[in-house]
Amino acid sequence: MENTLFDLTGKTALVTGGGTGLGRHFAEVLAGAGARVVVCARRVDKLAETVAAIEAAGGTAIAQAMDVTSEDSVREAYAAAVGDGVVDILVNNAGVVAKPSLLDVDVETWDWVQEANLKGPWLVAREAVRRLAEAGKPGRVVNIASVLGTAVQKGTGPYSASKAALLHLTHIMASEWARYGVTVNSIAPGYYSTDLADEFLESPRGKALLARIPQRRLGEYRDLSGAILLLCSDASAYMTGSCITVDGGLALPLI
Ligand SMILES: NC(=O)c1ccc[n+]([C@@H]2O[C@H](COP(=O)([O-])OP(=O)(O)OC[C@H]3O[C@@H](n4cnc5c(N)ncnc54)[C@H](OP(=O)(O)O)[C@@H]3O)[C@@H](O)[C@H]2O)c1
Repeated sequence: MENTLFDLTGKTALVTGGGTGLGRHFAEVLAGAGARVVVCARRVDKLAETVAAIEAAGGTAIAQAMDVTSEDSVREAYAAAVGDGVVDILVNNAGVVAKPSLLDVDVETWDWVQEANLKGPWLVAREAVRRLAEAGKPGRVVNIASVLGTAVQKGTGPYSASKAALLHLTHIMASEWARYGVTVNSIAPGYYSTDLADEFLESPRGKALLARIPQRRLGEYRDLSGAILLLCSDASAYMTGSCITVDGGLALPLI
């Protein structure tokens, strides 16, 4: 096999939500494969920690403030990070979660989740692909969805609906943007310990969930390294509109 298949040297990758959790891991993996990484989020202190870790490992990264829900913020962040240039690889990872049941959730909370988890990925990808199309360059978009985009868990309505929509948005993006040489795929993680997931994982329901994972453990960040590298590299050139589930078997339709 070609040993350059997963090499990202010369590529610029932008990771939203890159200051913490899975996003920080994705940024470190892509930098480790040779990409120059732009990590984006609202808390620049967290982004600086990711940049320091990447640089300490010999990689190249910059921190760029961005609110994915704001069209202006997205446009300004691209201009600040790459000028008139392109982002070759986009990882739409930023996301938020809200727990209320469908009867209890208020409209502001519902909108907040959809803005971050659905409108945000569209805004950030639109800017990336407009620039790629104009430059005549190919690219990669990876949307971080969730097993909750297809499986049903009570009390996750706004979040699950946003992730289901993100999975379908992935299909439409893949279809519309193939002509520009841009592939669009998604990853559906199961459960991983992060700021977003820990409150649930430490609850009685979260602890009970562990017993329902066929592999009987939470995911570890390194479990996602192969999937992100595949979808961001030449190795996935003929994949678009696909979803890779990385969940220890949690979403299997077991009987
Ligand atoms: N952990 C899991 O078990 C799990 C499972 C399935 C899917 N996921 C998905 O994985 C992704 C990463 O989540 P995580 O678990 O790693 O949690 P996390 O550590 O809380 O990361 C979420 C990141 O999103 C950023 N973010 C939120 N709203 C934003 C906005 N408006 N603009 C820019 N950045 C924003 C946050 O940074 P700032 O607050 O600094 O902006 C934060 O760094 C999410 O899409 C999540 O749905 C996680």
